[in-house]
Amino acid sequence: MQTTHLSLYVTEDTRSMAETAAGIIVERAREAIARCGAFTLALSGGTTPRPLFHLLASPEWSDAMDWSKAHIYWVDERCVSLESDRSNYRTARQLLLSRVAATRFYRMKGEENPELAARAYEALLREHFGLVPGDFPRFDCILLGVGVDGHTASLFPNDPALRETKRLVVDAYPAACGEGRLTLTLPVLNNARCCIFLASGKEKYHVLSTALNLTAAPVLPAQMVRPHHGTLCWIIDDTAYQG
Ligand code: 6PG
Repeated sequence: MQTTHLSLYVTEDTRSMAETAAGIIVERAREAIARCGAFTLALSGGTTPRPLFHLLASPEWSDAMDWSKAHIYWVDERCVSLESDRSNYRTARQLLLSRVAATRFYRMKGEENPELAARAYEALLREHFGLVPGDFPRFDCILLGVGVDGHTASLFPNDPALRETKRLVVDAYPAACGEGRLTLTLPVLNNARCCIFLASGKEKYHVLSTALNLTAAPVLPAQMVRPHHGTLCWIIDDTAYQG
């Protein structure tokens, strides 16, 4: 039986959206570190997380958790060079990881052959999480965004990657993207202890009216993220909520 604990936060602006997310991440980190001495966090790209990255790296927050015990992974990566400003790793490294005491981060190698890079990241996850065949990693916290088409991670509507049920990481070539992608698969997202979605801006209003309908049969990738034994947090700012 699936038990998903759902929380919806509507915040007055993007700063309070970031503060709400930071509070949940720090709490999850403290719990995980107290439980097993480490905290596994997977980051998404895009623009929505940037206020959160800035906040977590700020003097008020940078010591709120023990970053030296955090293991940072990526939800997805664009198949671009490390120097590209479209690199999710580059963005997170610049805005957050270079400004906190994190030393354990494991990027998806978007600059390499996508199929081989996906297999390599899958092998890294299997090793780090001590998985046997058929198991999925259980991240303490996964940070997600949602596109106006309802995609999340690099799982796009009608894309084969969305239907993957066995692999942990796949290479994907969504028509909506200008480049190939590497992405965690839906079973990995749904095995997390906690998935946090961030959404801001009135352009997300329409997709949220479907994505937040979590009692209906899911039609959008973001709607399909329902951690089987975990917490699902949607944190949206008022412009995304009101349209
Ligand atoms: C990516 C992200 C992607 C993102 C959404 C929302 O690599 O682009 O992982 O899933 O979360 O596209 O992007 P914005 O935050 O820019 O709206």
